[in-house]
Amino acid sequence: MVEPRLITIDAPADAPDPAGELAAGLREQPARVAPKYLYDALGSRLFEAITELPEYYPTRTERAIFDAHGAAMAAAVGPVRTLVDLGAGSCRKAARLFPVLRPSSYVAVDISVDYLRDALADLQRQFPAIQMLGVGIDFSRRLMLPDAVGDGARLLFYPGSSIGNFTPDEALVFLRQCHTAVAGGSLLVGVDLIKPRAVLELAYDDPLGVTAAFNLNLLRRLNALLGCDARLEDFDHVALFNERESRIEMHLQARRGLQLRWRGGQRHLAEGERVHTENSYKYSLEGFAALLRESGFARTAWWTDAQRWFAVFHAAA
Ligand code: AVJ
Repeated sequence: MVEPRLITIDAPADAPDPAGELAAGLREQPARVAPKYLYDALGSRLFEAITELPEYYPTRTERAIFDAHGAAMAAAVGPVRTLVDLGAGSCRKAARLFPVLRPSSYVAVDISVDYLRDALADLQRQFPAIQMLGVGIDFSRRLMLPDAVGDGARLLFYPGSSIGNFTPDEALVFLRQCHTAVAGGSLLVGVDLIKPRAVLELAYDDPLGVTAAFNLNLLRRLNALLGCDARLEDFDHVALFNERESRIEMHLQARRGLQLRWRGGQRHLAEGERVHTENSYKYSLEGFAALLRESGFARTAWWTDAQRWFAVFHAAA
């Protein structure tokens, strides 16, 4: 039985400690919490539940695009030696592409190898011929792949419109790092597109309240990581499309004037004041193609659904 290799790369020395980063964000005007704190064990499960909601179109639309155009994508990509999955999680999305892309090695990257262990072991049993490696790094700050990935051209896989969490300026920096990391290979990236406000806002404020729970879970994390005293019943989930910035914003809005107290600090929130918790940028096809070119990619192609709600881009170095 082949076992996938798992490696953890220590956080770089300049990485912020969670308590310091959270406290600094709460002191800002407006207050904010970085979206990566949404994903503890419960938050990751709530996000999985979001992807099952009929209102949350990105996951199923992207899946349909891969199913309809997988062969065309494989032709554009060419032979793949190493498939690098950024934010692999359950590894399910990449695994669906194994039969068309036929990689000889698969590298699953996520913030913690603990999230990857079981999924990779299952996958290795299913695909014994593919060499598998799990890497635990926070690639969102700096994309630096360990030597264990091996040299030669790579296909970077970044699905789910996770790129939307970056501002366009940050996305440019990240895509330039991707351009270097592909080492002459290419990138396959999922991008959410601009669409009517009502569709967008319903996808991020579903009537079942799963996205509200996902957002409110941040308060539990604040309490745990910072020794904060936030009460979940004091906050409302707010999701709105900021058309000027072309992004969905998620906020936690205070239902009454209140004082947040934590180890070493406090912050007053007036009634209706918000803590900004996430941005999810929406692109036009032309806008994202331009961003890829600006990042140094020479050749780009895209596939989309009939409504043009979501796109998968291929960008070759
Ligand atoms: C995981 C960042 C792609 O922006 O759609 C879903 C996160 N937030 N519902 C997104 C999210 C609220 C999601 N990404």
